[in-house]
Amino acid sequence: MADNPQTSTESIAVVGLGKIGLTLAAVFANNGFHVRGADINEAVVSSINQGISHITNEPGLEKLVAQAHQNNMLSATKQTSEAVKQSNIIIVIVPVLVDDENHTDYQFIDQAVLEIAKGLKKGSLIIFETTLSPGDTRNRFGTKIEEVSGLKMGKDFSLAYSPERVYSNRIIQDLESYPKVVGGLDEKSLALAKQFYTKALGCELIAVSTLETAEFSKVAECVYRDVNIALANELAMFADEKNVDMSEVITASNSQPFSHIHHPGIGVGGHCIPIYPYFFINKGLTSGLTPLARTINDQMADYSLMKMERVLGSFRNKNILILGLSYRENVKEPTKSTTLLLIEKLKEEKANIFVHDPQFTANEIEQYAVRPLQLEDALVEEMDAVIIQAFHKEYENLDFKAFTNCKLVMDGRNKIKKDKITTLNMTHIGIGNGRRDSNEGRNNGSNSNG
Ligand SMILES: NC(=O)c1ccc[n+]([C@@H]2O[C@H](COP(=O)([O-])OP(=O)(O)OC[C@H]3O[C@@H](n4cnc5c(N)ncnc54)[C@H](O)[C@@H]3O)[C@@H](O)[C@H]2O)c1
Repeated sequence: MADNPQTSTESIAVVGLGKIGLTLAAVFANNGFHVRGADINEAVVSSINQGISHITNEPGLEKLVAQAHQNNMLSATKQTSEAVKQSNIIIVIVPVLVDDENHTDYQFIDQAVLEIAKGLKKGSLIIFETTLSPGDTRNRFGTKIEEVSGLKMGKDFSLAYSPERVYSNRIIQDLESYPKVVGGLDEKSLALAKQFYTKALGCELIAVSTLETAEFSKVAECVYRDVNIALANELAMFADEKNVDMSEVITASNSQPFSHIHHPGIGVGGHCIPIYPYFFINKGLTSGLTPLARTINDQMADYSLMKMERVLGSFRNKNILILGLSYRENVKEPTKSTTLLLIEKLKEEKANIFVHDPQFTANEIEQYAVRPLQLEDALVEEMDAVIIQAFHKEYENLDFKAFTNCKLVMDGRNKIKKDKITTLNMTHIGIGNGRRDSNEGRNNGSNSNG
């Protein structure tokens, strides 16, 4: 945050007050801008209007929201067009997702854009921050706004795109330290967007030549991550086949400065990596590494269960505990979590599925039609196997002694020292730990697996 922010004459509308939108709104408000947030969710609007952040697990956010509210710099409304009418700069951060068939799903943002167009006045600057397919800002939304508002982009209003690249759990820090990529419809749009971010965030700016370049750059980042993780997973599966430990390989190989092999794992989840590659795939990138990486990464859950099955025999009526509903460690985010793939498959196999996640309440876990389990519960003695899916900090010192009937720990993130498990006479399996046909541990009396 700026030390002594000057109040700006510019008013900002932030449309979409989720994890990212609220953080942006609160940061802008604490940097001297009058911010009107708009969201369709009544509970979100009402809590912000009381100075309370509805996002409680983002470090620093609650304080920023309370401060902005106290200084009368942040308010919220369900009336998007009203917020837009009273603002000169409109930031759009309403998600675009994919549906069950991985088709791009614009339903939320289309609705938001319609409301923005209804309230838009001449001279405004609209900046899209939502991750989008290249061309969407100009062709889908710019055109729609022209049609509904009767205003002309480039003449009556300016249009820019700047992707949001932050990471959950450190969004405020990333907003200040990551360079902001900005593309504009024309020179004026780009200049206005740059001027705004300089004042509102004070971070380094990377201006690119077109809206589409800026849109492309964010999706490309996600594809890069997905493809590199898929490569690590492919190598890990081959290492299993060749009885080679992939962790050792990574340390050895990456000692060469041009080698940056990622870490293999049980799957890729979250809002970004499993979703945004489809923004390219759905626009024609239908063969090659991008779709292949999606397939490989989504198959890792199956692969892990296949390795477990070789030890357990069958999953039928077995008690399986999954640690971590979130897609990754130390966040509360179930979107596209690998746990959802594991649940689906284990249900088909007629296993009894239990889930533990310190970030979620029992009620929240029950919504996935599985049984929540506390680690203090006596039922842990009856678990046949444990899968570590998200390695939350609570699991770092987890004592597996209580799992007296457990035959197998699937270490989906390769985080547990195998001795910790094998000394308890349980089998330890990781991803790429050189054991394709793991059948040691309680099953046959040996405990040297790993
Ligand atoms: N979450 C992340 O880690 C992350 C990281 C980088 C980029 N992003 C980008 O930010 C976008 C938003 O992510 P998020 O985590 O804030 O999402 P979120 O699901 O937490 O919040 C979305 C908000 O938009 C609101 N909304 C839905 N339809 C609306 C409408 N028509 N008008 C107004 N508000 C509406 C919802 O009620 C919700 O409060 C993502 O789609 C992505 O493009 C997210």
